[in-house]
Amino acid sequence: MQTVDWLWLIHPALAVVVVYPLLGMVLRLARQTRDRRFQRSKLPPTVGRDHADLGQWLTAAVVGLVLIAEMVVIATSKPLVAFEGGTGRLVQLLLVLIGSVIAFSALWVVKKPLYRASFALLTWCGLIGLGLQPEVFRRSDNPFDLVFWQSHFWGGIGLAGLMLMSLAVRPEIHRDLRWRRFHLTLNVLASFIFLAQGLSGPRDLLEIPLSWQKPTIYSCNFQQLTCPSPAVSSQPDN
Ligand code: HEM
Ligand code: HEM
Repeated sequence: MQTVDWLWLIHPALAVVVVYPLLGMVLRLARQTRDRRFQRSKLPPTVGRDHADLGQWLTAAVVGLVLIAEMVVIATSKPLVAFEGGTGRLVQLLLVLIGSVIAFSALWVVKKPLYRASFALLTWCGLIGLGLQPEVFRRSDNPFDLVFWQSHFWGGIGLAGLMLMSLAVRPEIHRDLRWRRFHLTLNVLASFIFLAQGLSGPRDLLEIPLSWQKPTIYSCNFQQLTCPSPAVSSQPDN
């Protein structure tokens, strides 16, 4: 494997090693938080806070995971000297990346509802802005197209949006039963998207060739699922 292949591996590795184990803990604590509220079992009062604290880290992990995938795809699609749009575009994209990280860090600390909503939205816009670059592979951008719903990219963006929203309304979920129900409904959906990402991610991993294989694999026709016959590379020994 070459350096570029290792770079492409960072995102799937982080998903498997960091995000999904964290999700398991968040889901278990979510269950316990609900059980405790309905007094179904004797659980310590800390389960709610632990769920929310780990949920906050899960949000950070998902945002980081999406940013890393987008950065790697954009930076490695062509050699940096041949970067489409030149230094100007590179600087613009770097500013969006830095802006997204700053907006997320601000979301972590601000208290007022308006600020929380604004920074969550800004972070999400940053993720979408970077993801809409032509280098990033998206099966379809049309929600009326069936393949749109199989897109690993749009699944990731939807998930990041739902996580950011949970983080932005954290104080309201603690306080208000209606927000708690709304949070539960949205995050049942998020759990299904996590599951879908766990399927579409490995599918993409199977489909993306190693860098030295790309010239041959990309001569295939991906619509008709055919490849040119391989050239005879060596003559049999006589
Ligand atoms: C897949 C992800 C998640 C699922 C399935 C989930 C589910 C739940 C459930 C079932 C509850 C208990 C609701 C009840 O008592 O009726 C809960 C509470 C809560 N969740 Fe989540 N959640 C998720 C992610 C998050 C995230 C990312 C945050 C953001 C920080 C968060 C913040 C909270 C808070 C603040 C509470 C109230 C805790 C308390 O009672 O002290 N959750 N969640
Ligand atoms: C929380 C779960 C995940 C999220 C939110 C997520 C999100 C994303 C996003 C937004 C992209 C960029 C768009 C694209 O190139 O398609 C991407 C790329 C990719 N994802 Fe995921 N993903 C997740 C889990 C996984 C898993 C579990 C795997 C495989 C084991 C995986 C494999 C890939 C691959 C191979 C790419 C292509 C580019 C790269 O490696 O950087 N993803 N992902």
